[in-house]
Amino acid sequence: MEKIKTKVLTLAGIPLAIEPAAKMTLPEFYTLLKEENAYFRQQLLKYGALLFRGFPIASPDDFAGLVTHLNVGSFVHYIGGDSPRKIVKGDIYTSTEAPPSIKIPLHNELSFVKNHPRYIHFYCETAPQTRGETIIADARKVYATMNPEVRKLFADKGLRYVSRYYYKSQIMNLLNKVQRSHKSWSEVFETHSKEEVEKICHESEFELKWNRNDWLQIAQVRPAVMAHPDTNEMVWFNQAHLFDFNPRLLGLWRYVGAKLFYCRRHTKWHEVSFADGTPIPRQALYHVMDVLDSNTVKFPWQKGDVMVQDNVLSMHGRETFNGPRRILTAMTA
Ligand SMILES: [Fe+2]
Repeated sequence: MEKIKTKVLTLAGIPLAIEPAAKMTLPEFYTLLKEENAYFRQQLLKYGALLFRGFPIASPDDFAGLVTHLNVGSFVHYIGGDSPRKIVKGDIYTSTEAPPSIKIPLHNELSFVKNHPRYIHFYCETAPQTRGETIIADARKVYATMNPEVRKLFADKGLRYVSRYYYKSQIMNLLNKVQRSHKSWSEVFETHSKEEVEKICHESEFELKWNRNDWLQIAQVRPAVMAHPDTNEMVWFNQAHLFDFNPRLLGLWRYVGAKLFYCRRHTKWHEVSFADGTPIPRQALYHVMDVLDSNTVKFPWQKGDVMVQDNVLSMHGRETFNGPRRILTAMTA
C-alpha cells in the first residue's frame, strides 16, 4: 500500500509497525483505516499486534476515533477486571494505576472472564523516560515453548479463579493510599447496586457469594488454553500466574506483607487452583513465569503511538518505571 510503510519492530517478529509514507491529516488517517480495513485486520491476525506510529493522534478523542475507525469490534467496559484503572472519558481508561515499582507480568486481558475483550488498544499520551515499556508477547509462541507436560496439565485440568472485593472499608482505603492496588466491587462492576452485580455475574457465569461486611466473592472456572476463533491457532490464555501470590510475583517483602494482611480469609484478594480444586504446583507456575520472561518483547514508547493487539494472539504487561508516564487503553469485542 503506497500510503504507509511497515516494518517488524523487533527480532521477535512482533509488533508490526505502521507509519505514514507522507504526512497525513487525522481525517485522512481515519479514511485509510476504514478503506483498508481488510488489510489491517489481516496484519493483526498475522502479527498479533500493530503499532501505529507517526500518525496525528494527539488526544484521548483522537485515540477513540482511531479505535472507532479501525472498527475491530465495539467498545466494551472493563467489567470484572481487577487492575486499578480510572475512566478517562467514555470508553477510554488509564492503562493501570498500579504503583510504578510493580512490574505487571504478561497476560491476555481478562483471560479469566468468559466475556473477555477480543482486542486491546493502547495510546501513549506521555512516553516514560526510564523503562515503563508496555511489554508484549506472542501467545502462540508462549503456548509452543511451554513444557508439554505443564501445558497438558493446565489444558486438561482448567482453572478456578477466586477474587474478593471490598465495598466501603477504611482499612482498604488506607491500604490503597499507601499502595494503589485493590479495587472495590463497585469499581470492578462499575455500579453500587448489588442487584446489578448479581445480574452481571449471572450473565458472565461467575459464582457469587456475599461475605460479611459487604465483601463480594466471585469465582469462575475457565480453560487455560484456547484455539483462536478465526485462525484456530492454539494459545496460552490464562492468568494463573497472577492469581497465585508467591514471592516471585510480589517480591519477598510484599509477599510477607500479603501473607499477614490476608490471614483473614474473606479478605484474600485472589486465589487460583485447578478447576477440580487441586492445587497448582508452584514449580509449574514458576515455569510459566520463566516461559513468559523468555518470550517478552519490549520497545520504547513514543508520544502519539497507538498499539492495537489481538487479545487472544498476543499478551501485554508493564515494566517498572520512574517519572511521568501516561498510557491510555480501550477494549473492544
Ligand atoms: Fe492488562
